[in-house]
Amino acid sequence: HYNLNTEIIGNKIINFDKLDSTNQQAKKLALEGASNGTVVIAEEQTAGKGRRGKMWVSPPGTGIWMSAILRPSVMPENASMLTLVAGLAVCKAVREITNLEASIKWPNDIVVNGKKICGLLTEMNSEIDFINFVVVGIGINVNIEKFPPELDNIATSLMIEGNQSYQRKKLVKRTLEIFEDYYKKYLATEDLTKIIEEYNEHCINIGRKVRVTGRKQDITGNVKCVTNKGELIVTDQQGEDIVVTSGEVSVRGI
Ligand code: BTN
Repeated sequence: HYNLNTEIIGNKIINFDKLDSTNQQAKKLALEGASNGTVVIAEEQTAGKGRRGKMWVSPPGTGIWMSAILRPSVMPENASMLTLVAGLAVCKAVREITNLEASIKWPNDIVVNGKKICGLLTEMNSEIDFINFVVVGIGINVNIEKFPPELDNIATSLMIEGNQSYQRKKLVKRTLEIFEDYYKKYLATEDLTKIIEEYNEHCINIGRKVRVTGRKQDITGNVKCVTNKGELIVTDQQGEDIVVTSGEVSVRGI
């Protein structure tokens, strides 16, 4: 009933009223053999997972809490690019459906007016040279009216920014369709230049000042671009280009 025009992603959609976490459920189903492209969606998560062990607020009926199970035939080191690809898809779907100015905050937050409306959490099960499965978890704050005070400055919803409610089903449909378009391109070529060009066009960090923390030494500089491997290039105050990989660091606009 999502009326999807896809072949792979969402060829099977499993809906739940309530789950601890759609990523958790998707991993379980994947281990039990769920097929490539299966998507798990929950109305509510009681233990939604964010990056770095954080909680993801997932109240009932107001957001899109979903996870896609993918079994791409690529090397494990290329899997992290999938998160960037999914983020680009969410960004484009949100722009299309809401007309809000959504952007990507590297590596994989989607922001509107400087606050986060979507986060992605990718988890992988792999051997040295092949991927068993990847779970791409996507959380989009759609019709959330209010956030707890401690999140007020960093999180927002499409409803808060657009002053109206949006149809979650439509957004699920377009997100998965656009995700599939990019996914096919991602599988078809080793060279991600085209996709990354588009990623850069949607990335809010480009040309802006940032502070990178979490390394031996903090870096302050200007963001040049995101590379084909998904790294952020930051030109530091000495004019030197530094390659920053996600995971190890936190990047904050200043
Ligand atoms: C982050 O920005 O910290 C990542 C947040 C990811 C949240 C989504 S909601 C659907 C899926 N299931 C989870 O438990 N987490 C992801």
